[in-house]
Amino acid sequence: MENNGFQFTTTDTGKNIIVRDTPPHFCLMTIFGATGDLARTKLFPAIYRLAADDRLPEEFTIIGFSHTDRQTDSFRQQIKENVATVIGESFDRQVWDRLASRLQYHSGDFGSLEDYRALARRIGALETSHSQQNNRLFYLATPSSFFPDILRNLDGAKLIHPVTMDNKQPWSRLVIEKPFGSDLESARELNRLARQALDESQIYRVDHYMAKETVQNILVFRFANTIFEPVWNRTHVDHVRITGAEEIGIGTRGAFYDKTGVIRDVVQNHMMQILALMAMEAPVSFKAKDFHDEKAKFFRVLRPLKPENISRQVVLGQYRGFRETDGVAPDSPTPTFCAMQLFVDNWRWQGVPFYIRAGKGLVAKKTEVAVHFRSTPVCLFGGEEVCGKIKPNVLCLRIQPDEGITLSFSCKVPGDHLEIGKVTMDFSYQRGFARQGRTAYERLLLDSMRGDQTLFARSDSIEQQWQFFEPILKAGGSSLPVHSYEPGSSGPAEAEALLDGQDNLWGTHE
Ligand code: BG6
Repeated sequence: MENNGFQFTTTDTGKNIIVRDTPPHFCLMTIFGATGDLARTKLFPAIYRLAADDRLPEEFTIIGFSHTDRQTDSFRQQIKENVATVIGESFDRQVWDRLASRLQYHSGDFGSLEDYRALARRIGALETSHSQQNNRLFYLATPSSFFPDILRNLDGAKLIHPVTMDNKQPWSRLVIEKPFGSDLESARELNRLARQALDESQIYRVDHYMAKETVQNILVFRFANTIFEPVWNRTHVDHVRITGAEEIGIGTRGAFYDKTGVIRDVVQNHMMQILALMAMEAPVSFKAKDFHDEKAKFFRVLRPLKPENISRQVVLGQYRGFRETDGVAPDSPTPTFCAMQLFVDNWRWQGVPFYIRAGKGLVAKKTEVAVHFRSTPVCLFGGEEVCGKIKPNVLCLRIQPDEGITLSFSCKVPGDHLEIGKVTMDFSYQRGFARQGRTAYERLLLDSMRGDQTLFARSDSIEQQWQFFEPILKAGGSSLPVHSYEPGSSGPAEAEALLDGQDNLWGTHE
């Protein structure tokens, strides 16, 4: 029995928008990799939306830095086409024209110090009339293999100001896309390079999942309510399933993805952030330092994967057809799917299995956290024909799409006999609120300009996350087989075996 008949009311009118710190008056943003996939599909559309909402600094200039030799006009035209496609019908020509006048192009080689000196001269010329507010934001939206060169050259060309004693303007900040490194060693090296030139307070490591409204809501759900905290532990929770399934394949990102694979692309970062928010202890406050301190504590209690257990705890897969993609090696062992079981060694979670499943080419796009509670200790209601229908409660935080929260529980089916069915209470963001939140990249851009690091990743946590994945990265492709699966399926059948006797691991939560 299914029933979505519950109504939720909200007091939201769409009018009480809380405006946090405003962006600075002046900001000059340089985007490295300005013609790449990320910039075209995420960054520029986000900048456009901020412009449309009048949330950009009054004096705002963007310099797109990339190796292609071209002029500013053709760059503007290309970005306009990309933004118009992403924004669709509501694309407003006037908003675009205002934004386009702030957009410039600088062609340069990521590895050439001379090209950064030329960039420094150009930035210097743009800044002269704003000596009190020469704020600089450098956004690294290139493949991560370029990060070390870019960091060295930004420093070499003195494009980055050190932090001032009083932490006042002008500031310079670095925003670095994920994946931050490709393993523990490269992440340490990147952290070392970044800290040679900058203070940690100037480094903004992006994990855009942190900036999704529904991901932030995991903490609000847990800590702005009192009724969930008492059951959020090993006494009541049987297991937790975190799913990050994508229907799409790797599209045109073959070469990038073949080097990256699912673990580096989404598990080490996006899935781990969701896991941390779901399972960490309450931070002292939601300020950046307190929040990051508590998150780092959580990563310390993840039980390390022992090489001898990996094949029982981790299943990798690759969808059929992946190797035929442009840029992918014909014998590529790169996994596009990962399912794993992990444990958290602390008082709250000891013995509770957490399952993560993520991958591309799966049946549907679905990101969610499903908390499966324990079964009732005894059944009072007769034989198997009734008791067999009593299913444990499941609380599902739907991150995307169809953002919302579902709680399932057992209920008497009306009638003369005792029959038990399952009903669900369903809260939907779309039905519940009159307005939509910002997209993740809008929020991240705003926060990096106004200096709020809460939703960015801190160096210690990133290294802890890589450390946890080291054994899998080492085993992947050799001692750990990569099973193939049909595109449009739930992944390789072998993933089901991870579940100690529980059925339907990756089925729907309902
Ligand atoms: C990116 C990955 O970080 O996240 C992509 O590189 C993935 O491969 C994307 O598709 C998923 O993000 P979202 O916001 O669409 O769930």
